[in-house]
Amino acid sequence: MLSGFMNFLWACFRPCSGRHVHNGSDSGGRQDGLLWYKDTGHHYNGDFSMAVVQANNLLEDQTQLESGSLSLQESGPYGTFVGVYDGHGGPETSRFINTYLFQHLKRFTSENQSMSVEVIKKAFQSTEEGFLSVVSKQWTMKPQIAAVGSCCLVGVVCGGTLYIANLGDSRAVLGRHVKATGEVIAIQLSDEHNACIESVRQELHSAHPDDSQIVVLKHNVWRVKGLIQISRSIGDVYLKKAEFNRAPLYAKFRLREPFKRPILSSDPSISVHQLQPRDQFIIFASDGLWEHLSNQEAVDIVQNHPRTGSAKRLVKVALRKAAKKREIRYSDLKKIDRGVRRHFHDDITVVVLFLNSNLISRASSIRAPNVSVKGAGVNLPSNTLAPGPT
Ligand SMILES: *[C@@H]1O[C@H](CO)[C@@H](O)[C@H](O)[C@H]1NC(C)=O
Ligand SMILES: *[C@@H]1O[C@H](CO)[C@@H](O)[C@H](O)[C@H]1NC(C)=O
Ligand SMILES: *[C@@H]1O[C@H](CO)[C@@H](O)[C@H](O)[C@H]1NC(C)=O
Repeated sequence: MLSGFMNFLWACFRPCSGRHVHNGSDSGGRQDGLLWYKDTGHHYNGDFSMAVVQANNLLEDQTQLESGSLSLQESGPYGTFVGVYDGHGGPETSRFINTYLFQHLKRFTSENQSMSVEVIKKAFQSTEEGFLSVVSKQWTMKPQIAAVGSCCLVGVVCGGTLYIANLGDSRAVLGRHVKATGEVIAIQLSDEHNACIESVRQELHSAHPDDSQIVVLKHNVWRVKGLIQISRSIGDVYLKKAEFNRAPLYAKFRLREPFKRPILSSDPSISVHQLQPRDQFIIFASDGLWEHLSNQEAVDIVQNHPRTGSAKRLVKVALRKAAKKREIRYSDLKKIDRGVRRHFHDDITVVVLFLNSNLISRASSIRAPNVSVKGAGVNLPSNTLAPGPT
């Protein structure tokens, strides 16, 4: 009987069956094999398009779009929130952010009755502290949770102002119309924290003057302590609190010498931009997209095609490029199951936020319905049901 039940689940959740397209579980999106997408929807300041393709056995990328009141009150302020959370070491941190970050943001907005850099900073800080307490609770049973973390990219549009907050190497790119030439040019809005960037390595060296090995080139890739490419994140507690850098955590994550200062930071880079009528759209995406597409290529693809399905189109172009690099056909890549798929590309998340200049300039006190969309993957109800070796 149990095996009958397992077969039933297998038939329902098997990613590459390709027999039918069924709706995503919780957000009105649709699932087609390893691809989840919502081609179009409305937000407070225009339209949007979202897509996620899964490569890991358990989806590590998470994403959300929230529109409407950005506080706990009906009175607002109103606006749009976008989050892209690219997890590593497991899905726990990115899922945690997807559940709690926006709640914290609404709480701090309520307390201050307005949106600000300070509110966003505190929402990140509370999320980091919340995940730390999860790690403390689970440490004895599941020590490897100390080595799970996530990048965290957030965009908030409120009252004509755009806030971009980032930890790690996801990226937000603005498409801006240039009147003189008629072109739409790409402007990168987020600072990235990846040790492949020289200024990030310099920042690490000046924060750790006594450690010449703070960042090392290993197999041609710059890594902080030879372990991780990013220098800022939520989670990765083993590189922030020395008490979690010990047994029973796997030896490969343990550092030989105890550290006094956190090695990774959870302090986001935040920038503030006044939106203008010539600002057409913002592409938010995890590094899985940007390893295959330049900022301008992505902007051109969005600009030169219908708005509906923009995010899915970007994902598909990236997948075609990934297939080409490995000299296989796109149609064959699509048949490769999650887990194995990670050898060909990363999880990829894309949110395209179109900006309607009439809606951008309206006051953040004008009410509108709340909209909440969360990207979904082919997540099984429990790890033990995951096919393949367990
Ligand atoms: C599921 O998809 C169908 C179209 O295939 C649509 O009519 C229906 O509203 C969707 N349901 C949900 C809950 O999104
Ligand atoms: C929108 O959400 C806020 C809380 O964030 C709530 O107070 C308000 O009632 C909601 N509005 C609608 C129309 O559901
Ligand atoms: C409230 O907003 C002001 C001005 O933006 C800021 O200086 C202050 O730190 C904020 N306070 C909180 C609790 O977020």
